[in-house]
Amino acid sequence: MLNKNSVIGVIGSGAMGSGIAQVAATAGHSVFVYDNNESSLDKAESNLKTSLQKLVEKQKITVDQQNDILKNIQFVKGLNQLSDCDLVIEAIVENLEIKKKLFHEIEKILKPGSVLASNTSSLSITSIAAACEKPQNVIGIHFFNPATLMPLVEIIPGVATDPQITDACKSLIDSWKKITVIVKDTPGFIVNRVARPFYSEALRIYEEGIADMATIDWAMKEIGGFKMGPFELMDLIGHDVNYVVTETVWKQFYYDPKFKPALSQKRLLEGGFLGRKTGRGFYNYAPETKLPEPLKDATLGNIIFKRILVMLINEAADTLYLRVASRDDIDMAMTKGVNYPKGLLKWCDEIGVDSVIKDLNGLRDFYEEDRYRISPMLKQSFILKRKFY
Ligand SMILES: NC(=O)c1ccc[n+]([C@@H]2O[C@H](COP(=O)([O-])OP(=O)(O)OC[C@H]3O[C@@H](n4cnc5c(N)ncnc54)[C@H](O)[C@@H]3O)[C@@H](O)[C@H]2O)c1
Repeated sequence: MLNKNSVIGVIGSGAMGSGIAQVAATAGHSVFVYDNNESSLDKAESNLKTSLQKLVEKQKITVDQQNDILKNIQFVKGLNQLSDCDLVIEAIVENLEIKKKLFHEIEKILKPGSVLASNTSSLSITSIAAACEKPQNVIGIHFFNPATLMPLVEIIPGVATDPQITDACKSLIDSWKKITVIVKDTPGFIVNRVARPFYSEALRIYEEGIADMATIDWAMKEIGGFKMGPFELMDLIGHDVNYVVTETVWKQFYYDPKFKPALSQKRLLEGGFLGRKTGRGFYNYAPETKLPEPLKDATLGNIIFKRILVMLINEAADTLYLRVASRDDIDMAMTKGVNYPKGLLKWCDEIGVDSVIKDLNGLRDFYEEDRYRISPMLKQSFILKRKFY
């Protein structure tokens, strides 16, 4: 169905589309990239040349490989030029109506049996597929940013997706040297769902004045072993992206308080303080401004770290409980998609489910909020004295 000779189409030549095209061309495929904005297409072409040249200079690829990759990619100005593609991956603006319109249009251009995939971060694959005559050929293939470097790819069959298409896409993306996980079509898939408490619990601790952002970031890095703290990571991702993902996930879960966004982050977005890209987010990155120093209090740091960690574990356990993905795929997704130091279910085994439940009970009793309800998966593990591994 799909193999090393398959012709790949990419629609949208922004941050994600250009990376996905490079990955597919590096794997030896003939790739056609289309964007409805010519300047975006030109920029993608010149960025590709620059990034390949850098890889040659760093001796990561040879000049022959550079030439092959460039030969494999064609930047095209008409959607019709994608007609020979066996798989088209869409990476355009995150808007359901625009994506549906495009899927409806592109299906008519492609050969029967071609696969249509969306790289959406937060929209329902099933609703995108509903715009097509053959929703069985539509699937989610979700790369992480930057697609050339991040190993994880979430494969998301919609309600109508043919299981053979799911298998074929998984094998193909595996052959591109990526790590694939299979996820049920649910809001945020694995990573953008399970990671929510990393931000939201940190924001809650900050809003309550339990600690300042520099101390929370320090605790998660120094004590937790995370590569970045929540506030510096939100500033890096940009509040226009990070806040919107949180809000979308929350709305799609029928306003479940577990996923409720934080006002402090919304205000930054409203004020245009989007993070590093605008020079100011939670932190001020102006050259003359000194970044705040953390408190480096080990007792406080441990309280912060453990509170955020148990909330992450709770969400990972619930994701497993609701059969969104397998145990191994949930842990793999968090380590390979967002560089967590350990899989969260493995982490739960290490610290003990009794300790996780005790902390969550403490939060729930104190706040009396549904946000802190304990996943039945954790309760089951506790009652049955069962570990995840
Ligand atoms: N940026 C990320 O971190 C990230 C990570 C994973 C997934 N995603 C998802 O990938 C998709 C693309 O995100 P991005 O960050 O690359 O966006 P981007 O803004 O960098 O690029 C989008 C491109 O799509 C083009 N475009 C818009 N509408 C189009 C249309 N109708 N037809 C053809 N081209 C069109 C734009 O001209 C632009 O070049 C979104 O669905 C997003 O949710 C983004």
